[in-house]
Amino acid sequence: ALAEEKTPLSLAFEAIQGSRTDAVVVPAGYRAQVLIPWGTPLSAEAAAWHSDLAMTPAQQAASVGMHHDGMHAFALDADSESRRFLLALNNEYIDQDALWAPQGGPTDPDGVRPADEVRTEINAHGVTIVEIERQPNGSWSHVADSRYNRRFTTATPMTLSGPVAGSDYVVTAYSKDGTETRGTNNNCANGYTPWGTYLTCEENWPEVFVNTGERHADDARLGMPTDRGRYGWESAAGEDEQSGEFSRFDVTPRGEKASDDYRNEARTFGYVVEIDPYTQAKAIKRTALGRFRHEGCWPGPVREGEPLVFYTGHDSRNEYIYKFVSAATWDPADAPSPGNEAERLAIGNKYLDEGTLYAARFDEDGSGEWLPLTPDARTPDGESLADALGLEAGDLAGVIIHTCDAADCMGATPMDRPEWSSVDPVSGEVYFTLTNNSKRTAEGSEATYTNEGSAIDETGVGYATAPTNAPNPRADNGNGHIIRWREQGDGRFHWEIFVFGSDAQGNANRSGLTASNQFASPDGLWYDERGDGRGILWFQTDNSDNAVAEYTNDQLLAVVPASLKAGNGGAVIDDGNQDQLKRFAVGPNDCEVTGIFATPDRTALFINIQHPGNWPADGDALIQDATVTTSGAVRPRASTVVIWKEDGGPVGV
Ligand code: FEO
Ligand code: CA
Ligand code: CA
Ligand code: CA
Repeated sequence: ALAEEKTPLSLAFEAIQGSRTDAVVVPAGYRAQVLIPWGTPLSAEAAAWHSDLAMTPAQQAASVGMHHDGMHAFALDADSESRRFLLALNNEYIDQDALWAPQGGPTDPDGVRPADEVRTEINAHGVTIVEIERQPNGSWSHVADSRYNRRFTTATPMTLSGPVAGSDYVVTAYSKDGTETRGTNNNCANGYTPWGTYLTCEENWPEVFVNTGERHADDARLGMPTDRGRYGWESAAGEDEQSGEFSRFDVTPRGEKASDDYRNEARTFGYVVEIDPYTQAKAIKRTALGRFRHEGCWPGPVREGEPLVFYTGHDSRNEYIYKFVSAATWDPADAPSPGNEAERLAIGNKYLDEGTLYAARFDEDGSGEWLPLTPDARTPDGESLADALGLEAGDLAGVIIHTCDAADCMGATPMDRPEWSSVDPVSGEVYFTLTNNSKRTAEGSEATYTNEGSAIDETGVGYATAPTNAPNPRADNGNGHIIRWREQGDGRFHWEIFVFGSDAQGNANRSGLTASNQFASPDGLWYDERGDGRGILWFQTDNSDNAVAEYTNDQLLAVVPASLKAGNGGAVIDDGNQDQLKRFAVGPNDCEVTGIFATPDRTALFINIQHPGNWPADGDALIQDATVTTSGAVRPRASTVVIWKEDGGPVGV
């Protein structure tokens, strides 16, 4: 079965050239529209957005958050699933200059922050749930007063679930039994479940915390600042009645015991968070899926009677790829239906709280193995993992709190910054973007982590340097690559590199890229199954400072993959795939292109434009043409962009 060839689809659009303008560019015959930019009101409590609007905590809490990233659509009814749905959207981080533009920027950003500025910034982070519908003229809009519209922020109460919940590791003054926390933060990529819930993943959360005292080993490994949090939220005075509103971001131990202070606050972050987009239910942090800088969490094939599988990666240099396998096997009765309307998160308890987390070891011969991160697992030295980590026997919560250290001990392979994944649901082939890695060297030093934070670089993370290896074969990998693998069903897999990023002229061009598909720093990814086992792999870039960036802004490309062949491990993508790799869209200056899905009928494709520099073109109209080039300077707004074909047909083919 492994050697089966798919009948290729044909990509029926003309590849576009690179672009470096303040506009979205799409192929001839396509339209692109701005939808729900930052600050769009979600209820009557919020004023209409305008370029001079002074943002407040209440205004931001009732409006779309900032810096759109991962997203997913949830149907409201099967008949209208391609015309009306709930959109769950991550708001990863903020642009303080845009947020505070009317007052000329944040007040004293390096000093004591005003309480309401901090509350507003907290409310600009998190997740937006918003109802979306297609208009008769083919354009799209949000439902301004939908009862489903909702925000989750860095202050929203959430439940901890799974092995870490209720353990001493997460006891705080807010939750003396370690079962609750406030907020989700730096939600980058996402996932979804086969029972109709959204998964949002906490990536660069360590940076909003600070510890000026003795750090937990995990704080250091994950790159928590030692002088000031990213936005200085901890500095704000005037906490309201909700104890620790701002001081919880300073996790320096102060009291006698953990329940007196917030030394463990950051240990309630770093998780995959499950949200029921259809109800007002509290979000649940699913600790069984590990704790690190989670990029996203993508489901594998869903098969009756088999465990569910979720793939997730840690986006830092020389960190790891993980897989969670549920203890429960899939029961199709748990799929979305009117019958389980109110029970979605209870179904989540069944599949996401018990199971085994594994880290990936990629071997030089093109095979690989999943390494269990359980207290009793044996390290290559023959020690139990709990012993190797200095934990008490059976301490699964401790293993999860120290997920990266556990993966070190088990011999996982340090990768070139794992970003998004996507799984072909028919073949089960798994794709993973490895965006780039400036700390990969030819000779390398051993990839050891000292927990000293001594190698903290400009992004605050303590990275070690790792030598090149077969799955990450390029030193100083500034262009990144995409890897893929197929599970063998026995805890092993075989893998190959699918495509290498490069500029067309460069020495690093190992995949025969040309002007019409040169790319670097792949990030967002979606395997778009189109039936009969055929599909399009869409991928997006988050690139800067290289020859590709001089040619084009960040972009969306499409490729029709040929099957992975048995024994082809480590092979460079074959020529047969190259003429099917085409540039489909380019974003405006300074942006990253991220977040992707299409309507079930494939007549509309949704992407996100994050951190644009001077876009979208200003105007009062709610429906804006994303391809209009900005004239003059505007207050930039991250936004969703909907792309559709003028003839109404499926996008891409
Ligand atoms: Fe938020 Fe790894 O991108
Ligand atoms: Ca991002
Ligand atoms: Ca990303
Ligand atoms: Ca990125």
